[in-house]
Amino acid sequence: MTKNETIKAGVIGWPVGHSLSPRLHGFWLQAYSINGIYEPIAVKPEDFRDQFRGLADAGYAGVNVTVPHKEAALANVDEADDNALRIGAVNTVVVRDDGSLHGSNTDGFGFIENLKDGAPGFDFTNGPAVILGAGGAARAVVTALIDAGVPDIRLTNRTMSRAETLADQIAGPVTVVPWEKRDATLNDAQLLVNTTTLGMNNQPPLEIDITGLPDNAVINDIVYAPLETDLIKTARARGLTTVDGIGMLLHQARPGFAQWFGVQPDVSQALRDHVLAGVKG
Ligand code: ATR
Repeated sequence: MTKNETIKAGVIGWPVGHSLSPRLHGFWLQAYSINGIYEPIAVKPEDFRDQFRGLADAGYAGVNVTVPHKEAALANVDEADDNALRIGAVNTVVVRDDGSLHGSNTDGFGFIENLKDGAPGFDFTNGPAVILGAGGAARAVVTALIDAGVPDIRLTNRTMSRAETLADQIAGPVTVVPWEKRDATLNDAQLLVNTTTLGMNNQPPLEIDITGLPDNAVINDIVYAPLETDLIKTARARGLTTVDGIGMLLHQARPGFAQWFGVQPDVSQALRDHVLAGVKG
C-alpha cells in the first residue's frame, strides 16, 4: 500500500444496517484526520466464506465481524489469538501483508476497560462475580473475568445446560447456579453483570431482586438500548456503583482501529454521545 492510499476497513454482518460500528469508527477517522473509510459489509451466511477469504483481494486492511458470523470467522482465519480460541469467536480481523487473515476477540478487553472507566479502583480479585446469561457475550465476559483474577464466578442462565457447557469449556473458577436461585447467589457478590437480552428495548424485562447485594457491589448491564435499564436504575437508587453498556462497544473497537489505521483512539464523552445518538429504540 502506498502512503496516500485510502485505508479501508468495515464490519461484516447479516443484517448489518443496525451496526453502530460505522458510526463509531467514522467518528475516530474524522477526529484523527485519517485517510480511511469504514463501511458496513452485508454478507449472507451462505456467502460468508468466499467474501471473507476475499478480503485481501478486495483491498481491506481488516474488518470487524458481527452477528451471525463470529464463529464462522474463527473457522476461516489463518491464525487466531488465544482469546478468540477460548471464546470460540472472532470479532476483529487484520489482513496481514502476505494477505493472510489474523483473528482476535476484543469483547473481553472492551468489557474490562468499560468497567475500569465506570468503576475506577474496582478490585477484581476481591470477591465473587455473578454473570446472568450464557450466550456469546457471556463467554467473552467470563473469560475476561478469569484473566482479571476474579476468584469465584457464578454463572446463571435460563437454559442451565448452556451455562454448564460454557463452564466446562472455559477453564477457571466458574460454577453454575440455577436461574431460579439468581437472587440468593447475590448476597456476597462484588460484581453483577447482565449479559442477557432481558431489559433491552422490545425484549422482556429482567426479573431480579438485588436487595441481597452488598453495598459496595458494582453492577454492569451490557444492554445499551436503553442505556438506563431497569437494572441500572434500581441499582443506582440503592446507591450502588453502576456501569452502563455502551462503553463495552466503544472499547472493544479500539484494538482494531489501532491496527488498521495506526492511531490509538480514545473513548471520549463526545464519542459516547455521537454513538448513542445512533441507537435506535
Ligand atoms: P449473545 O450472543 O449476544 O450473548 P444470545 O446467544 O442470544 O446472545 O444470548 C442471549 C442470552 O439472553 C442467553 O443467555 C439467553 O438465555 P438462554 O440461553 O436460556 O436462551 C438469555 N435470554 C434471552 N431471552 C431470555 C428470557 N426470556 N429469559 C431468560 N433469559 C433469556
